[in-house]
Amino acid sequence: MFITIEGIDGCGKSTQAGKISKWLEARTGRKTIRTAEPYMLREIILGSKNFCALSDLLLFLADRAEHVDKIILPELENNHNVICERYNESTVAYQSVIPNIKDIINACKFPEPDIKIFLDISPEVAFSRVKERNNKNDKFEAEGLMFMKRVSSAYRNLNLTRIFCDNLNEDEVFEAVISKLEALI
Ligand code: TYD
Repeated sequence: MFITIEGIDGCGKSTQAGKISKWLEARTGRKTIRTAEPYMLREIILGSKNFCALSDLLLFLADRAEHVDKIILPELENNHNVICERYNESTVAYQSVIPNIKDIINACKFPEPDIKIFLDISPEVAFSRVKERNNKNDKFEAEGLMFMKRVSSAYRNLNLTRIFCDNLNEDEVFEAVISKLEALI
């Protein structure tokens, strides 16, 4: 299985990715690889405050091309499960200022996940978590609450497997994810 986990910064992707990968490995008896984007060009993309929106987009796509070629496809071809934090929908939601963003991503023909899980949390809650977590926010986190709201509403317009997390604790979110996955296995 190829599973992606999406959501705004601070929605709890990493916590859930860890839990899901342990569960899926036991449930399917297959090795389960946990990975995340940005993959290779992380320092370059997140470290520079000067790139224009188009450069950010092209770097995220180059990063994904390498990730697909070096990790995602080889692992899937080996019959392993892959759990990836962030993928195409992060680009649609975060780089939404680029016209025709969906067409550009579609043209890349990256492999389609079996399920795209969207951890939907209100931007206010996520924003306060991110601020507590570190004071050296990366450039997207540093954009502020208005930006988070834009990203959140872009995500909400996409066709994803959505879990409302605001009133759920970590274990309850995990239960909700598992029930979606069980329906697929
Ligand atoms: P990261 O520290 O990995 O954040 P998180 O743990 O929330 O995933 O930083 C990734 C940042 O890059 C995050 O703010 C979202 C942004 N991003 C994009 O803007 N477009 C993309 O295509 C991807 C993959 C990430």
